[in-house]
Amino acid sequence: MTANEDFFRERRAAAVFKHGILKRYPVVFASKAGSRVPDRRVIFVDGYAGRGEYDDGSPGSPLLLAQGAASVKEFRNVKGIFVERDPSNFQNLERVLAEYGGDGMSYSLYKGNLDAHVPAILRDAQGSALLAFLDPFGTALDSVQLQTLLMRAGTPPTEVLLHFSVSAVSRLGPVVRKLRVEQREPSDEESKKIVRLNRFLGGDWWQPYFAELRNEDLGAATRIAIRVADVYRERIRQATGFQSVSVHVRMKPEHLPKYILVLFTRHPEGVWQFADALGKAGLEWHEAWRSDLVNKELRKAAAVGQASLFDDDGELSFDRRKYLSSEEPKWIAVIQNNIRRLLDEYSAFRIIDHVDKVYGTTLGSAWIPHLRKAVKSLYASKEITASGVGEFQKEVIQRVARLP
Ligand SMILES: C[S@@+](CC[C@H](N)C(=O)[O-])C[C@H]1O[C@@H](n2cnc3c(N)ncnc32)[C@H](O)[C@@H]1O
Repeated sequence: MTANEDFFRERRAAAVFKHGILKRYPVVFASKAGSRVPDRRVIFVDGYAGRGEYDDGSPGSPLLLAQGAASVKEFRNVKGIFVERDPSNFQNLERVLAEYGGDGMSYSLYKGNLDAHVPAILRDAQGSALLAFLDPFGTALDSVQLQTLLMRAGTPPTEVLLHFSVSAVSRLGPVVRKLRVEQREPSDEESKKIVRLNRFLGGDWWQPYFAELRNEDLGAATRIAIRVADVYRERIRQATGFQSVSVHVRMKPEHLPKYILVLFTRHPEGVWQFADALGKAGLEWHEAWRSDLVNKELRKAAAVGQASLFDDDGELSFDRRKYLSSEEPKWIAVIQNNIRRLLDEYSAFRIIDHVDKVYGTTLGSAWIPHLRKAVKSLYASKEITASGVGEFQKEVIQRVARLP
């Protein structure tokens, strides 16, 4: 079974996270950004679209984008553009979209390499708000294409949601250390790996990071890949002016991150809404990895003809209410401390300008109501001036002056 076939067999927890975002964020983008363009035209691009759905029937990214378009069809004019290189995946995608019927969305399908279709996509998207989802296997994306999409002509809102594969970068990158330790020239195979990463990351600037690796430990390579992803985001910011917000996605909480989801946007409101979607998707991810675990146990037990220790109601299954009532107070306390730290740094600030710092480690777990509760309780205890009502993310927050 190839990696491509294996990927679409069933939807695993890490995919649940990205799909949780795709269920929510495109709808918000179409509603907000689509109001700022003529005829309320919005384009959703799925640059590495895949098969459309998984073999277990769960919707893939193209169907989730189509469902998002359907939910705004009364007030937005959404077009989908789907690109897929693999012939068998393309055929399946074509069938799945035709069966779905394009409710609320006209669409175009492009067969082949994304790179070849970017000029046509830019022509189609002229004057429309554009949200592109780039979800390559590993490092298939050329950094030039990302920048071309971000820097397209004109001023319509443009955002890109990128799947940055930490596992691929941490697998390919250590070749640089190997060559340094063994003091030799690369083989053809190794040269290909280096060229691939240069293309994905936009130059050879990443090589010194991996050259410093002390050993072949996967954890160390993963930490370097995460550092490389941070520098990559900063380089894109310098080259294009786009800020970004990102979250690490794992198979289970104790695992190393498999990929980083990054939203490139120019708009603080984009960051604000995206962070909200991350928290809600995080809850679905928790549910998913627990149920992956239960299913694995059930399969193991069935294979040896035993009743499992766990079932759907067993101790491993996920109880949303219990989970939230134990975690929410902790998230709110973390957010309150983050607000206090920001007040030490700036004396006055708006949450919308520091969304990632206000969430801090709760990004991908908490969402807007938790921020609101944190602000309201700081206000109730007379620590801050902002009350947490209405559009509280745009209110200036200051400490309440104390009498000497
Ligand atoms: C990770 S899968 C996509 C999964 C899909 N976005 C989802 O969430 O349901 C990546 C897909 O990109 C396709 N692909 C790889 N390189 C490509 C390229 N250069 N241009 C277009 N598609 C490509 C692969 O065949 C594969 O179907």
